[in-house]
Amino acid sequence: MPSETIRKKLIEVALPLEAINEASSREKSIRHGHPSTLHLWWARRPLAACRAILFGQLVDDPSSVPEEFPTEAAQEKERQRLFRIIEELVKWENSNDEVVLRAARREIARSVARSRGEAPPKTNAEIDAYLAEKAPPVLDPFCGGGSIPLEAQRLGLRAYASDLNPVAVLITKALIEIPPKFAGLPPVNPEARAKFAKGAAWNGRGAQGLAEDVRYYGRWMRDEAEKRIGHLYPKAKLPDGQEAGSAGGATGREKEATVIAWLWARTVTSPNPAASGAHVPLASSFMLSTKANKKAWVAPVIDAGAPDGYRFEVKSGAIGKEAEAKAKAGTKAARGSFTCVLTGTRCPMATSMMKLTMAACAPGLWQSSHMDREVACISLPTRTTKILRNRPSQHGNLTRNAAVRLRAMPKGGFTDSKPLATISQIASLWR
Ligand SMILES: C[S@@+](CC[C@H](N)C(=O)[O-])C[C@H]1O[C@@H](n2cnc3c(N)ncnc32)[C@H](O)[C@@H]1O
Repeated sequence: MPSETIRKKLIEVALPLEAINEASSREKSIRHGHPSTLHLWWARRPLAACRAILFGQLVDDPSSVPEEFPTEAAQEKERQRLFRIIEELVKWENSNDEVVLRAARREIARSVARSRGEAPPKTNAEIDAYLAEKAPPVLDPFCGGGSIPLEAQRLGLRAYASDLNPVAVLITKALIEIPPKFAGLPPVNPEARAKFAKGAAWNGRGAQGLAEDVRYYGRWMRDEAEKRIGHLYPKAKLPDGQEAGSAGGATGREKEATVIAWLWARTVTSPNPAASGAHVPLASSFMLSTKANKKAWVAPVIDAGAPDGYRFEVKSGAIGKEAEAKAKAGTKAARGSFTCVLTGTRCPMATSMMKLTMAACAPGLWQSSHMDREVACISLPTRTTKILRNRPSQHGNLTRNAAVRLRAMPKGGFTDSKPLATISQIASLWR
């Protein structure tokens, strides 16, 4: 291998930061086709910035190529030419534009060849082969959502990645390792196969076949989830109060809407016998939005027709100081305790939480011999599901405590006596 001359790179001198920043910021609002729409990754870096930085790290700054750009004016002119390439390269809509990408790959190949004292490759195929073999490979040991290896691959470089977090590894594999394996292959989902059987031809390119399968099976999973648990997520009625599913009469406007966020609160059995065992929420706030002029909150409404004797109404608009303070407190009474939303009776937090723990552990009592194996318990009374796995030392104590307290409880008390279920039994419930 020829000895390589190290030259100053573009990133060490200047970059068109304004264009990179603008493209990076715009990327946040891309809702279609961005990896973030396939799977959320919390610290994902903008693809535009990764692309520009990789380019700037590999392409020589003209000041370090005096044999080609002897004067400052010539260097600046060349630098500006490279800037124009970056400005096009960072645009979201150019992410798969072969003309733009080829221009970038050509520049990278030129700099690599220069440092190796070799003639730069000329044709597109030569450039691709040259980069794949001779450009420095990119390794991102903390790849997260895979932005850097993805962009390295887009620029024709060999990309390697790792991460401590298996979810990050899976996302990155799905982004950069799996699609090339299916490059050029047709989709295999039943709908597509039926079309091919009737003589339809496949004209897709790259990973389009795989993408069609991902869309097909993604839809299938969504529909299955809807079928199996959709009833637990009813649609919201719009303020005009029409029944769910009814169309909006003359205007044709739907009177119901899909709920986009669910707030979750633990519930406990009300300690007041007058509530007849209703499950009441431990809510530390009823406020949904505390922004000035955009206040929104939920208000509990006592309603004998509702499953536990109460329901919530979403409110927004002006709210008085006293009412806001009340909404902000939810069902919290004082440090460590809550009140029953139906009767106002104190539910001391310690008791509530202890009961939750006991409820979660209680089923283990009836088959304690299973405690050294995987154990899953469903706590029906609290409507929470806890799966306790392979930590017998921790759960042993909890279960023993729960046993003592349970024996002291009146029959028909807080917990029920559902037998222990193994993880596979629980899993079969969801199959
Ligand atoms: C800021 S994120 C990387 C974001 C990534 N560049 C992207 O665009 O999505 C940092 C990553 O480092 C990973 N990480 C932290 N410590 C690590 C370690 N010791 N070994 C490997 N990965 C680690 C984290 O799991 C996280 O995914």
